[in-house]
Amino acid sequence: AFMHEAMGLSVLEKQLREKLQLNEVIIVPGNSDEQEWVKQEMGKACISRLKEKTRPGITIAVTGGTTMAAAAEMMTPFDYAKDCQFVPARGGIGEKEENQANTIAARMARQANGSYRLLYVPDPLSETSYQTMIEEPSIKGTLQLIKSAGIVMHGIGDALTMAERRKTPQEVFGKLEEAEAVSEAFGYYFNKQGNVVHKVRTIGIQLDDLTDAEQVITIAGGTSKANAIASYFKKGNSNLLITDEAAAEEILNS
Ligand code: F6P
Repeated sequence: AFMHEAMGLSVLEKQLREKLQLNEVIIVPGNSDEQEWVKQEMGKACISRLKEKTRPGITIAVTGGTTMAAAAEMMTPFDYAKDCQFVPARGGIGEKEENQANTIAARMARQANGSYRLLYVPDPLSETSYQTMIEEPSIKGTLQLIKSAGIVMHGIGDALTMAERRKTPQEVFGKLEEAEAVSEAFGYYFNKQGNVVHKVRTIGIQLDDLTDAEQVITIAGGTSKANAIASYFKKGNSNLLITDEAAAEEILNS
């Protein structure tokens, strides 16, 4: 039964790779909308890729969210971890403490026996505070580290679900609806064509910085994220998408 399932999923992986034009896709069984353990399975795949790609001195940036939090639970010590720095990719962007990038970076570092640097900045920021903050020496150092990350691990969310979860002000919410935002990643909101329609002003990784990373790993699953994943990958790039069977089937059927 296991072989059979593995073979079935490898066919799906190939189809999804072609549909989204990605180099590599890993699909785990199940639907993370309904089964919590599916996020942990995706997390496990993410951590094992991280371990393959890591090297001494590398910086690993992570975003927030429940999927990345599940990945953090799966972290165990690895070679070179002592010389690796875990950092949040961006600020907290309205997540609950346990799902913030800072918390996740610290947890991964602790479980891996690695080190970490955190960002202590409120967000979203006004334009003036933003300009002042990025000049603060302590923040500047962390920011440089973040922007030079060799490995970036991130989630994708459904745009309006994320806007609601972040208690986005009504006017911004209206703007997102009007622009038909479908997906969200790194604080950027994208429409169906994958164009940016809104961006939360927070410090950290910007979309352009991703091209410099050696390895970008994306994890997102569940039927509810099918459109979001398809939208993000119209323009977005990643070395590896880790998703679940339910999202994969939904993307391929629409
Ligand atoms: O808010 C951080 C973040 O990584 C978003 O960029 C993304 O849309 C979301 O979390 C994913 O969260 P979850 O894994 O809980 O769906």
